[in-house]
Amino acid sequence: MEIIIADTYEKLSALGADIIQRQLLRKPSSVLGLATGSTPVGLYQELVKRHREHGLDFSKVTTFNLDEYLDLSPSHPQSYRYFMDHNLFNHINVDAQNIHVPYGHTEEVDEFCDWYEEEIRRAGGIDIQLLGIGADGHIAFNEPGSSLGSRTRLKTLTKQTIDDNARFFDKNEEVPRFAITMGVGTILEAKEILLVANGAKKAAIVAEAIEGPITAQVSASALQMHRHVTVIVDAEAGAMLKRADYYKWVFEEKKRLVPRLVGKVT
Ligand code: GLP
Repeated sequence: MEIIIADTYEKLSALGADIIQRQLLRKPSSVLGLATGSTPVGLYQELVKRHREHGLDFSKVTTFNLDEYLDLSPSHPQSYRYFMDHNLFNHINVDAQNIHVPYGHTEEVDEFCDWYEEEIRRAGGIDIQLLGIGADGHIAFNEPGSSLGSRTRLKTLTKQTIDDNARFFDKNEEVPRFAITMGVGTILEAKEILLVANGAKKAAIVAEAIEGPITAQVSASALQMHRHVTVIVDAEAGAMLKRADYYKWVFEEKKRLVPRLVGKVT
């Protein structure tokens, strides 16, 4: 794993955008796995800026989002589809036909989940998967206890996640209790993974996920098994990492010697 500790959220967002941009330049028809939450908003703003100002091209890109609340229609302001439209898709030249966000407003959840997995396969697999991390260590909505081999399916959210998400809804009762989410196994099949985390609230779980044991109780810890993961945290989210000095040293050494290797070698 490559751990990058950025001084600020702005630098974290720019470095994350660098990695996505490099992927798009290498392969214009990349399959991007995308995430919601407040953490990647700055990264999406960077990508939009680079599209507007430097013509970063998304016309051949295919996207798959990690998750979606059950029973929220795509036009609901708190749905993840709405979030993606407003934070990214409406501002870049991605072909609407190539966008995939799990459809939460369905009675046929199992069939939908199988279809979603099949679509990812048909697209040739995900080239780079962007992830945030929940306060309980979840990636996508793989709550503690999710099998490390799990696939796209329906998950019941934990009380902590419901409380964390309550800030986006008028009343706590309105927060969805279920979500459709890619599984940990689905995520681990991405060719490359980029996890971003910011703020002091994430410090303890980031340290547990990166430096603690691999356990289904912290689904982000499964990333330790993946062969190409980059984690970018800001100073606050990286504050409890025991080997922080080493990670910073590696980053500086790579920048000095072989800048093209940053985000490339674990
Ligand atoms: C939700 C999403 C996750 C995201 C997490 C963290 O639970 N399903 O994909 O990583 O929120 O959100 P935030 O970035 O707002 O802390």
